[in-house]
Amino acid sequence: RVRGRAPAPLYGLQVSQDPFGLVVCRQRGGTVLLNTTVAPLIFTDQFLQISTSLPSHFISGLGERLTPLFLDTAWSRVTLWNRDMAPAPHVNLYGSHPFYLVMEDDGSAHGVFLLNSNAMDVLLQPSPALTWRTTGGILDFYIFLGPDPKSVVRQYLDVVGFPFMPPYWGLGFHLCRWGYSSTHITRQVVANMTAARFPLDAQWNDLDYADARRDFTFDRNRFGDYPEMVRDFHSRGLRYIMIVDAGISSSGPPGTYRPYDEGLRRGVCVWGAPGAPVWPGPTAFPDFTNPRTHEWWHDMVKEFHDRVPFDGMWLDMNEPSNFVEGSQDGCPNNNLEHPPYVPGVFGGRLQAGTICASSQQFLSSHYNLHSLYGLSEAIASHRSAWGSCTRPFIISRSTFAGHGRYAGHWTGDVGSDWEQLYYSIPEVLLFNLFGVPLVGADICGFAGSTSEELCVRWTQLGAFYPFMRNHNDHGTRPQEPYSFSPAAQAAMRSALHLRYSLLPFLYTLFHRAHAAGETVARPLFLEFPTDPNTWAVDRQLLWGGGLLVTPVLEAGQTKVRGYFPAGTWYSLAGVGAPAVLLPAPHRSPGADSTIHSKGQWILLPAPLDTINVHVRAGHILPLQEPAFSTAQSRSKAMALLVALTPDGFARGELFWDDGESWESFERGDYTEILFLASNVSSDGELAHLDGVLLQAVTVLGVTSPPQRVLANGAIVRDFSYRSDTQVLRVPVSLPMWEQFVISWS
Ligand SMILES: *[C@@H]1O[C@H](CO)[C@@H](O)[C@H](O)[C@H]1NC(C)=O
Ligand SMILES: *[C@@H]1O[C@H](CO)[C@@H](O)[C@H](O)[C@H]1NC(C)=O
Ligand SMILES: *[C@@H]1O[C@H](CO)[C@@H](O)[C@H](O)[C@H]1NC(C)=O
Repeated sequence: RVRGRAPAPLYGLQVSQDPFGLVVCRQRGGTVLLNTTVAPLIFTDQFLQISTSLPSHFISGLGERLTPLFLDTAWSRVTLWNRDMAPAPHVNLYGSHPFYLVMEDDGSAHGVFLLNSNAMDVLLQPSPALTWRTTGGILDFYIFLGPDPKSVVRQYLDVVGFPFMPPYWGLGFHLCRWGYSSTHITRQVVANMTAARFPLDAQWNDLDYADARRDFTFDRNRFGDYPEMVRDFHSRGLRYIMIVDAGISSSGPPGTYRPYDEGLRRGVCVWGAPGAPVWPGPTAFPDFTNPRTHEWWHDMVKEFHDRVPFDGMWLDMNEPSNFVEGSQDGCPNNNLEHPPYVPGVFGGRLQAGTICASSQQFLSSHYNLHSLYGLSEAIASHRSAWGSCTRPFIISRSTFAGHGRYAGHWTGDVGSDWEQLYYSIPEVLLFNLFGVPLVGADICGFAGSTSEELCVRWTQLGAFYPFMRNHNDHGTRPQEPYSFSPAAQAAMRSALHLRYSLLPFLYTLFHRAHAAGETVARPLFLEFPTDPNTWAVDRQLLWGGGLLVTPVLEAGQTKVRGYFPAGTWYSLAGVGAPAVLLPAPHRSPGADSTIHSKGQWILLPAPLDTINVHVRAGHILPLQEPAFSTAQSRSKAMALLVALTPDGFARGELFWDDGESWESFERGDYTEILFLASNVSSDGELAHLDGVLLQAVTVLGVTSPPQRVLANGAIVRDFSYRSDTQVLRVPVSLPMWEQFVISWS
């Protein structure tokens, strides 16, 4: 039965009854998007299987995997079942996103979401075809007709939720390591970063801070002045984040550990998994599907925050992860523990690395809810928001469809090697398609020792992860930016300055994600769907539609090949951030580095101190002078980088608010400015930019020498222009809180 038809649907639908099957095709062109009559439907209690043909081999999505952006349809299997597993090919990782996007031959795209949280396999076949094989629930499908890939993503996010708006400081640089074993060491890290003049917005601690590795405690010896340390950081404009593990220690005598005593009293734990050991030893797992758990969690978070005024939460081990299989007493013998069909989960059994499948939670069995654990914890943490009226900042390892509405994600225990550096790009791009734009990999790698060259290249790429954190394992070589040679430090400093210069642009992209379901880090195919050469590109990424990043991903290289879709691309190569604000004549983007592409691969120079970044003609990027934290940079001078199309057009925007108030957009407490080529128009009140000056406008692609430049009608005498580079520089001093017009003729 088909209910509620759209007035002019993009699709045609045929339903056959015996055997049951569905065919969905495009009204225009007739492309068959879905045909489930290719194989029989199986619908039983613990085994549901449905297959469909695919209109092309270009299928992306279905995370979380260590995978290229487009998946392999030559008999490959994607297993979804959240698992604490260091990223490796072909295995189920920390999150489940049963959503795929297919590019059709003409550049149209469609998407399919199966809203089902059970353990499942998705089998990709060369015909091409796809089989969903899930171990429970129902077949609740959403099909998104696009017809362009950006619309597919937005339509998917209409269903699972648009991303939350992170605080401005959350887009700065974050630094962490397992092994900062005391407040003394943690303070040293901050002091060393400051002495070496590196920007830093948030200092983190791993489990080192906790007393006997228990949540909501701190070690009285090594971290005796923990609250004072956090307050000291605040007084320097820094933020502080600590890890919170999912398991609550259950082995202490009654009266010694309030979170457990209180949880026991309120009955908030997953029932049926006694003594599942993780870090603190025997552990109980809070059941975040129980509303009472949310109250308990809120109280524990707030009580801890009253003592230690942290700024964000780092949710780890929430697949949930367990160091024994099921529990210390094993698991019962029943059909949830031993279903008739076990998907290709790592370890071969559902209990491997987690708690018993038949453990009972408030809403249902863990068998049904397992992959929702991280999402439900993120929801509880987001809502608790530690009792403040600022936006929560939460990063979680385990995720499920819809996670981006509440929290971000880091890609777990990646190794310090070049292969993982590459894989971080498709992973970041995929999470943007999944609606989790606040995502990044641990810069320089987490597990194993990094090398100086790898760490420089990783910092350059990491400057373009939406979430930028350097995090390291204990016992490996140090990888804080200050722990390398002066040359390496200089390269990292320039990458960080570049990111900090671009933060107004990045923040505006996050606003577009939050308000309109857009992506922040964007695969090329989303912007150029009718150019099939872009589809599989996953060694480059875009920020929004206007900035193309082409990093070096291999050792010993000083050149890099990148794909440039048709159009004009202006290089920022070799331009450090202060120069971006007002490129000095001798360092301006050279005429030879402006690319007029017909849609082609181009070999670019890429010495170790450089990351190739290109601005796409037609875009205006708002920039701001970098500083050592966003607390300082937010009041610095702004600048505009105007990249003209050959016919002299460019457009850009800036979203600005106080950077941290809860729902500032929803309450209308923000400023939005639209910039147009030589004309600037603004929308509404510009109050939030009080005191911020626009100090430079750099226009790329000015073909004839201007005779006269005006800023708000007044003649600007010290503009400069070079006909070889076609760069016009206009120094100005205009209040950003008033409308302005800059023109040249
Ligand atoms: C759907 O698949 C069946 C079985 O392969 C095939 O016979 C049928 O023609 C297909 N329908 C369409 C509309 O392509
Ligand atoms: C900070 O720098 C000092 C001086 O170089 C060094 O001895 C110390 O080990 C550094 N501390 C950390 C935590 O990196
Ligand atoms: C700029 O704006 C003025 C007045 O709004 C208009 O007359 C002019 O055509 C615009 N110029 C461009 C290049 O858009």
